[in-house]
Amino acid sequence: MKTLIACYSYSGHTLKVAKKLQKEIGADLTEIKTEKDRWYLLKILDSIREKKATIKPCQTDLMNYDKLILCCPVWAGKTPAAVNQYMFDLKNIKDKEFGVFITSGGNRSQKATIQMRENLDLQGMKFLGQMRLITKDVENEKYGEIFPLFAGKFKDPKSENSKNITE
Ligand SMILES: Cc1cc2nc3c(=O)[nH]c(=O)nc-3n(C[C@H](O)[C@H](O)[C@H](O)COP(=O)(O)O)c2cc1C
Repeated sequence: MKTLIACYSYSGHTLKVAKKLQKEIGADLTEIKTEKDRWYLLKILDSIREKKATIKPCQTDLMNYDKLILCCPVWAGKTPAAVNQYMFDLKNIKDKEFGVFITSGGNRSQKATIQMRENLDLQGMKFLGQMRLITKDVENEKYGEIFPLFAGKFKDPKSENSKNITE
């Protein structure tokens, strides 16, 4: 049993952290991708209104996993619509543990992490930890003290073989 990292990333920063985390903890990684791109303003509006977006097939069934890390950029202080859809599509998650992490341009608001925590709590998952990183720090590979602390909550010494799950 191992950890699944589910990552939505539009311009690569969140994915960069997700891949580093994947290496560190020996997790599988699935990328959440939308079927269609939307204009910048529509991305903002969809996030504010907590809408969902059609996503490409990815790993949503946690049958073979005991932990989930869900990660994404902050959009308009909130989660992107693709992530809202992913949380809706999740299966076999009850009583499993989860963590969330976000990257953001500078906004210190935790609204997006709260949104994910509340959604997954309501679906019966158990919260393990959260992390927030700033885009610039990700670019400069300054992950800070929080990174090993967060990773440590998901480390499984037995699972060394990680894989990338695509469609
Ligand atoms: C549509 C859109 C909305 C954004 N809204 C915010 C915001 O409200 N607060 C913030 O700090 N950064 C905001 N950002 C910046 C991203 O959260 C940040 O650059 C993030 O690290 C990008 O991650 P990615 O490269 O994985 O997509 C926004 C970016 C986009 C494209």
